[in-house]
This record gives sequence, C-alpha cells and structure tokens, in this order.
Amino acid sequence: MAMNRNQFIQTAAASTMLATLKARAVENAELAAKKDPDQLNIALIGAGAQGRILAESCVRIPGIRFKAVCDIWENYNLRNTARYIYSQQREMPNAYIDYKEMLAAEKDGLDAVVVASPDWMHAEHANACMEAGLHVYSEKEMSNSLEKAASMIRTSRATGKLLQIGHQRRSNPRYLHAVEKLIHEEKLLGQVTTAVAQWNRAKADDIGFPAKFPIPAEILDQYGYNSMREFRNWRWFKKYGGGPIVDLGSHQIDIFEWVWETQPRSVIASGGTDFYKDREWYDNVMCIYEYETPEGIARAFYETQTTTGRGGFSEAFRGTNGYLEIAEVPAQGNAVFREAHAPEAQWEALAAKGLIKNKPAAIKKVATKNTAVDVRVTKAAEGWPLPVDLSKPAHQPHLENFFNAIRYGTELNCPGEKGYETAVAVLAVNRAVATNQKIEFKESDFHV
Ligand SMILES: NC(=O)c1ccc[n+]([C@@H]2O[C@H](COP(=O)([O-])OP(=O)(O)OC[C@H]3O[C@@H](n4cnc5c(N)ncnc54)[C@H](O)[C@@H]3O)[C@@H](O)[C@H]2O)c1
Repeated sequence: MAMNRNQFIQTAAASTMLATLKARAVENAELAAKKDPDQLNIALIGAGAQGRILAESCVRIPGIRFKAVCDIWENYNLRNTARYIYSQQREMPNAYIDYKEMLAAEKDGLDAVVVASPDWMHAEHANACMEAGLHVYSEKEMSNSLEKAASMIRTSRATGKLLQIGHQRRSNPRYLHAVEKLIHEEKLLGQVTTAVAQWNRAKADDIGFPAKFPIPAEILDQYGYNSMREFRNWRWFKKYGGGPIVDLGSHQIDIFEWVWETQPRSVIASGGTDFYKDREWYDNVMCIYEYETPEGIARAFYETQTTTGRGGFSEAFRGTNGYLEIAEVPAQGNAVFREAHAPEAQWEALAAKGLIKNKPAAIKKVATKNTAVDVRVTKAAEGWPLPVDLSKPAHQPHLENFFNAIRYGTELNCPGEKGYETAVAVLAVNRAVATNQKIEFKESDFHV
C-alpha cells in the first residue's frame, strides 16, 4: 500500500525511535554486564557460625555482592544465611547444597569464594574453587592434614589464584601497630625473650541442633559425617578437625611467628582426653615452643583448657624493657607495660607522637602499692594503652585485605605460605602429645 508524505514521516520517526530504543537496550545490557570494576561477585561455602560472621563483614564492604551460598545443611544454615544476605544486599543469592553444582552453575559470574566449612573440607573446597578460576579466602586451620594444606598452596601456584588464610589478627590494625610499629620498628620491648598465650573456656556440653531440623542421614553420609553429633562437634573428632589446640591455638601461635619473624625450632607438649571421655581430641594441652631469633633463644608457652575460663584468651610478649598484653577483644589485653628500669623518655616520646597512650594514673598507683609486698619483688610495670582502635567487626579488615589484593594487586597479609607455616607448628603439638616426645623442626618443614 502506498504511503502519503505524513504517513511516511510518522513511520520513519517511529522506526528511528525504535532503533534508538533498541540501541539503548543494548547499551543498558552492556552496562549491566560490565559491572563496576570495584564490584566483586562472591560465593560462600560453609554457612555455619563462622560463615555467618564472615558474611556479616562482607556485606559491610562496598562493592561485595554475594551471588551464591552453599551448605549441606539446607533447611537451617543454608536457608538462614541466604536470607540474612538477602536482608542486607536486597538480592537473593542462589542457594546450593553441593559445591560442585554451585561451581558448575556460577563460576563464570564469580570472582572469589569464601570457604568456611570445617577444616577437613578446606582443601577440597579451596582447590576446586581455584581450579574453577576463583580467588579463595579459606578459614583457618588451613587443614587438619599437612598434605592437604600443601595441596592448597600448589593449586594456588598452578592456577595463579590468590589464597588468603583466615588468621585475621594479621590484618587487625591494633595488632599491626603493636607488632610491626612498637615491637619491630621501635623495639619498645627490648629483646623479646618469652611469650605466653592461652585460650581457655569453661566446661561446655556438646553443641546440639534444633530438633526440627536434623540433616537427613543419607545427606550426612553422602558428605562424610558419621552422625549429627559429629557433624555439629566436628572440632573434637580426628576425621574433621584438630581439637581445641588447633582450633584456638592456631590464631595465637601464628602471632608468635609474626613477632619473632621466624618459625619454631622445636615444641614439647602435654595434654590428654581427661575430662570429656567421649570426645577424641585432647581437652587440655600445654606446650612450649623454642625459637632461634637473631638476638638469642626465645620461648613461648601456650595452653588451651576446656574446663575453666580462667585467663580467657590473650597473648603476652615479654621483653627486657617491657611487655605487650594484647587480645582480639581489647578488654582482655590492650597495653604495653614499661619495666621500671626502661628509659621513660623513650616511652614519653612515643606517647607524645601518639604511638602509645599515656599511662593511666590508676595503674601507676596500683604499681606503687604492689612493690611494698616484698623487697625482692620487681617493681610492677606501668601499662600504656595502645592508641589504635578497630571500629569494625574483627574479620572485616582481613577480608578487605583479600578483596583489595584481587582489585588492586596489593599484598595479602596471610597468603597460603604463611598459613602453612602456622599449620606446621600447630599440628605438631598433637603429635608431641601423642608421642610424648619433643618435636624438632627442620627449616624445610615449613616450605612447600
Ligand atoms: N577465624 C576465626 O576467628 C574463626 C572462628 C570460628 C571458626 N573458624 C573456622 O571456620 C570454619 C567453620 O567453623 P564454624 O564454627 O562455622 O563451624 P560450623 O559447624 O558452625 O559451620 C560449618 C558449616 O559448614 C557446613 N558444611 C560442612 N560440610 C560441608 C560441605 N562438604 N559442603 C558445604 N558445607 C559444609 C555445615 O553444614 C555448617 O553449616 C572452621 O574452619 C573454623 O576453624 C574461624
């Protein structure tokens, strides 16, 4: 049918508009596909207690989007964590029971995976993710087996993917300040000759589960768990974890190596399954490491108790001029203490620069009183609080360090190699207890 001039103009205008709309649609689709360069799409494997804590930190970090969550406890941890993530980012992550299915469906849209499954699964999960082309943040302990831990480093090297291990104190600004600024740079403690650390917890029953939400027996079996009890209390069983010394000790024994900038040369240990007779791993362990530092031999005592909360958790580094008491929770340790003979002028100068806080008067008063007890008692040291606060959840800076390494190529604070060194030192304690023998390390033991 022939068109008059007006009809022709209208049709031409309509087709121009259509073309413009089409072009805009293509542009929008391209824009949507080209995400903000700072946006990282991530997944979580293991959405239990720690997976949830890590998710709570991740959603606070600009540009981090959860696209998927995986957990074998479908109607409880998987569902609750996916819902929590939705409540924060207003986009529902896809939920998977099986990590293989998750990787097959999601890997092209992901940049990284946070692995917070029980220790025995870290290597399988982390290796599969790196092989799928994704960077990995894996919780500590790297693994309950050194061979599996070593495989994670090999995969990271072979794939070129980043592997960060979750010893989060290494990114905590309070620890960075105390260890790197005050101990390493300012040498405020003098020669650090000994360290003492502990993580003690009061007697506690097995962890249970809501009666309405057990995992079906066939799913437990498929994923290698012998029972709901073992699934929930995996830390205490040899198949899945390393017991309290590995679970708790690894955080703090890691700091020994950081402060002395070397790995231990030996460890002796004593412990036993003395109280919780139906659990496999030692419920109390005391151990002593020896370190060969450029200034001489240093020793560190570590204990973990599960029948008393006395002492809580903290680390003390003790030097010839002063000592540091520090803990992840500042109320349990957050000051450097000056021995009476140490040059006060140095400490005053650091306080003037804001590197330590001025000693509170109250501590000075207690110190004066204590010295009257016995003439042989060393004059009590004065505490000078640390000036650095962490205003974020404890794990957030370590996750930020990981994401920034992906985005900007900055250095990881705890790459696989560091995590491995700590795993070698920590897992040896269980061997020392079992054999009742001193374990001597070779330098090569710490390298893959
Ligand atoms: N960095 C820290 O401060 C810190 C603190 C606590 C725990 N952790 C570490 O985090 C990890 C998890 O500990 P948790 O306390 O959350 O334990 P948890 O038992 O509460 O959670 C583990 C989760 O992993 C899931 N899971 C188990 N096997 C799985 C599999 N094959 N595939 C997918 N999901 C699986 C479980 O269903 C559960 O939801 C451990 O490695 C632990 O050492 C680190």
